[in-house]
Amino acid sequence: MKIKSKSDVDNLMGAHLPSAALNAALAIGLFWRLAGSPQSSGAIAQATGIPGNRCRYWLKLLASMDLLDQDGDLFSPSPVARAAILETNSEDTWKRLAAEAPAHFEKSLRLLRLLSEPDAEREQPAGQILHLPSYVLAMVDDLEQARSFCQLLFDLHTPLAQDIVDVLEINGARRLLDVGGGSGVVSLALLRRHPQLTAVVADIPNVCTAGREIAARTAEADRISFHAADLVHDPLPTGFDIVIECDLSIFDDPFLAKLAASLNEGGRLVIVDRWFEAEKYDAPARLAHPLRETLRDPNFSLRTLEEIEDGLERAGLVVESVGSIPYGNWTMIQARKGGASKAGASTWDTSRRAP
Ligand SMILES: C[S@@+](CC[C@H](N)C(=O)[O-])C[C@H]1O[C@@H](n2cnc3c(N)ncnc32)[C@H](O)[C@@H]1O
Repeated sequence: MKIKSKSDVDNLMGAHLPSAALNAALAIGLFWRLAGSPQSSGAIAQATGIPGNRCRYWLKLLASMDLLDQDGDLFSPSPVARAAILETNSEDTWKRLAAEAPAHFEKSLRLLRLLSEPDAEREQPAGQILHLPSYVLAMVDDLEQARSFCQLLFDLHTPLAQDIVDVLEINGARRLLDVGGGSGVVSLALLRRHPQLTAVVADIPNVCTAGREIAARTAEADRISFHAADLVHDPLPTGFDIVIECDLSIFDDPFLAKLAASLNEGGRLVIVDRWFEAEKYDAPARLAHPLRETLRDPNFSLRTLEEIEDGLERAGLVVESVGSIPYGNWTMIQARKGGASKAGASTWDTSRRAP
C-alpha cells in the first residue's frame, strides 16, 4: 500500500468504505453463497434483506475491487476471492475475523481524533486497565467473546503450533507452562507429540473456561490444566521444565524475571513472537499494530530482539538460540536458566516456506 499518485491518496482517504463492504461480505458469508452459482443483485437483496439499490452498489463496489466477477447483473466470486478467501480460512474463521471490524473502526476513529487533536487525550475514559490490550479487556466480562476468540485462535494457530512442535526439542521435559496460552493450541500440539509431557495454560479466567472446553474434546484432555490469572499482576505457578510465551508480546524485565522464576534450574524459556522492533518492518500492516497499541498506552514501544536478549540475561537466563520459524516468519528465542555462557548462543533458520 505505497502511495504513487493523487488518486491513490483519494482512494486511501476513502478506504474505510471498501473495508466496510469487504467485512460485511465476510460477515454474511457472501462469497460462499455465490461460490456455487452466480446470482443477480435482486436475488441477493431478497435473500439477505438488504434494500435493492444498496445491495447493488455494494456488489458493484466489491466487483470494482476484483473480489466479485460481474456478468451483466450476475455476480460470482472472482478468481482472486477464491484463492485469497475461499481457499484459505474457513467461512467460520472469516466470520469471526470480520466480527472484529467494528472494534478496529472505533480504534481508527479514536486514532484520527488523537492524532489531529492531541488535546483530546485528556478525555480518556477513566478506569481503563492500561496493561490489557482491548481484545483481552473485551473478554474479561464476556465468556461468549472468549469462546469465539479461542476458537478463532485455535483455527488460525494450528499451523503455527505444528511448526513449533517440529522445531522445538523437548529433551525429556515433563512439565510445560504456556503463558497467555489461550485456547491451548500450542500446548495441545506439543502434548500430542510428547506423551510424557503435561501442560498448564495460564490466561484470564474466561479464556481458561473457553480453553478447557476446547481441550475437553481432545485425547490430551487429562494432561492439560488451566490456571486463571492476570499474568502481569498475579504470581505464576512454579516448577516447570519449559515455559512458553507464544504471541503474548510482553517482554519487559519484571515479566521476564517472573517467567524465569517459574522455571526449574536448567529449564528453558521459549518465546515465539513477531512483534519486535525492526527497521525492516516498514509495511503499513506491520506498523498498524504498534500504532494501535499507543492508543492503550501513549508510551508504548516495541522492544528490539537485542533488548529482549539483554532482559533475558538480567533475568538470569542464557540465550541459547534465536531463529525464525516457517509460520509467517515468526521468531523463536530459547533461553536456559542456569545455562552455559552466552558464547554458546546460536542462530538458526528453519524457514521452509514463504509467509
Ligand atoms: C494472541 S493470544 C495468543 C494465544 C496463544 N498463545 C496462541 O498462540 O494461540 C494472547 C493471549 O494472552 C492472553 N493475555 C494477554 N494479556 C494477559 C494478561 N495480562 N493476563 C492473562 N492473560 C493475558 C490473552 O487473553 C490471550 O489469550
